[in-house]
Amino acid sequence: MNHIKIVPQPGCGAEIQGVDLRAMDAATFDAIHGAFAEHGVVFFRGQTLSEDDHIALAEQFGPININRFFAAHPDYPEIAMVAKEPDQKDNIGGGWHTDHSYDHEPALGSILVARTLPETGGDTWFASMYAAYDSLDEKTKAEIEGLNAVHSGRHIFGEGPETYYNSTDAGGNRIGNAAVAEVLDDAVHPVVITHPLSGKKALYVNPAFTVRFDGQTKEESQPLLAKLYAHCFQGDFHHRFKWEPGSVAFWDNRSTWHWALNDYQGQRRIMHRITIEGCALH
Ligand SMILES: [Fe+2]
Repeated sequence: MNHIKIVPQPGCGAEIQGVDLRAMDAATFDAIHGAFAEHGVVFFRGQTLSEDDHIALAEQFGPININRFFAAHPDYPEIAMVAKEPDQKDNIGGGWHTDHSYDHEPALGSILVARTLPETGGDTWFASMYAAYDSLDEKTKAEIEGLNAVHSGRHIFGEGPETYYNSTDAGGNRIGNAAVAEVLDDAVHPVVITHPLSGKKALYVNPAFTVRFDGQTKEESQPLLAKLYAHCFQGDFHHRFKWEPGSVAFWDNRSTWHWALNDYQGQRRIMHRITIEGCALH
């Protein structure tokens, strides 16, 4: 086993040091997998992954999910481009969310590799939904016990005038396939999930894709959702990750939120994302 060190980060996640992600033995893989399940997001520095290495790394954690809405790398369909050019204004993922909650079996998570970074800005915030759940007061925990929530991607990726697809400059060239989003079925997941790897409880609603509680209207759902989000917006369980050349982040969609900051107007930022299939949540 490489001499690896797992360094928990304040708020959320852990940095894993002493690993070359191109060559992991079974014990190193197990240590990384365990840290991922425990901390929700793991960070690596100084990596030199080619596109093929990136794909091989992801495949060790599960089958690759080919994204329906993101533009793909021209030579590697497994790699989704998370890109912003100097003349583009809107970024991808610029608000608290977790990817794929609109799917019946939400993707496990994604491995994001920095390719071209702005000189300044472009950090990513992560938030721990384990910590968010644990720190809820007992009354709120009782209130959400047994509740389910409905999630949708239509208002983001779909064809309506107010969607992210139609209301930003990401639509068309970076985000596409709006017709597919229009026919997505809504997905229903528990508000509190038991994480499939760690067995820990996590809060599983997010401001981007959760539309209401199951059995309630949007209006009826709004006060409790707003209360849960206000709790999650507190900084105690957030970590701001600063990208450097060679940085890699591997986050778990089930136990974290993330937010890509859009504070580098006029500069290019190119990231390669590979997403790994997940499972139904209970
Ligand atoms: Fe995202």
